[in-house]
Amino acid sequence: MEMDDFIGLAFSSMVIIMPAFIANSVPVLARGKRPVDLGRYMGDGRRVLGDGKTFEGFFAGLGVGTLSGALFGYPLHSFLLSLGALFGDMLGAFIKRRIGIERGKPAPILDQLDFVAGAILFLYPIYRVTPEQVLFIVIATPPIHLLTNYVAYRLGLKRYPW
Ligand code: CTP
Ligand code: MG
Repeated sequence: MEMDDFIGLAFSSMVIIMPAFIANSVPVLARGKRPVDLGRYMGDGRRVLGDGKTFEGFFAGLGVGTLSGALFGYPLHSFLLSLGALFGDMLGAFIKRRIGIERGKPAPILDQLDFVAGAILFLYPIYRVTPEQVLFIVIATPPIHLLTNYVAYRLGLKRYPW
């Protein structure tokens, strides 16, 4: 692949996925108190999702994520990306609880990719991210996610650096 093609791929991939990154990062600022699972437990004795998934975080992420793309004239794209990111993150939390990983404890790969998988899937009906873009996003997201989470941790926003 030519260098110019690679830069084009990198740029287009990051522009497309940006609303999902925003929707996934904003909830930590919301300091939500009302858990989406309403504090309920499953038969395995663990919370359905846990206290890390709140209504306040969900709507803050959806609102700011949608707005981020709406400013550039893509309100529906950014809405679907944000919704998908937030549902992907909740599915990730659901899976973590079912396999016994407590709220806030790390699940490598799952923590970094649950939200981008959800975002790409929800966007699919109106826009198909190319396989090359999916590959770029899957490779680039974990280091970016780890870095932004570390910054949030140092700023005292997050309890753990992941
Ligand atoms: N958050 C929220 N509502 C959401 C998603 C996230 O309020 N729908 C907030 C919570 O305060 C959460 C923080 O953002 O702790 C960081 O999100 P994340 O790292 O995904 O949650 P964890 O605390 O690691 O919890 P889990 O193990 O359930 O993923
Ligand atoms: Mg998560």
